Amino acid sequence: MTPEKLIDVAKKVRLNAHCPYSHYQVGAALLGKDGQVFSGCNVENASYGLTICAERNAATTAVGAGVRKFSALAVVTKDGASMCGACRQFLVEFGKELKVYLASESGAYRTTTLEELLPGSFGSENLT
Ligand code: THU
Repeated sequence: MTPEKLIDVAKKVRLNAHCPYSHYQVGAALLGKDGQVFSGCNVENASYGLTICAERNAATTAVGAGVRKFSALAVVTKDGASMCGACRQFLVEFGKELKVYLASESGAYRTTTLEELLPGSFGSENLT
């Protein structure tokens, strides 16, 4: 799948974001190594700390479907912002070689990797 197609999936799911407090919509699409795509948007809560980010929403949906190996992630926001630290750590669990496309709603994007976003991370290898 092309980065553009994955970004398109993230762009669509972003419109379902529940963000009445921040008004900041985020959409994420995670490409499984088997070719399946899982998407998620941010879901805020009146008890702010319970908010779930789009990336973690996509990842938990994938894991629930039995998919834990991923090749790429697209994140779409209005300004092409990066992922929060919590989501970086959450996704490192499934491999730091993940390609990440950070896109704005215009479709412009930059490519990076999870390892670049979270260098020197703590992971499952530390618990063997
Ligand atoms: N948000 C995400 O969904 N992903 C991130 O990586 C950064 C932040 C959401 C959480 C909250 O609903 C809104 O963006 C503003 O912080």
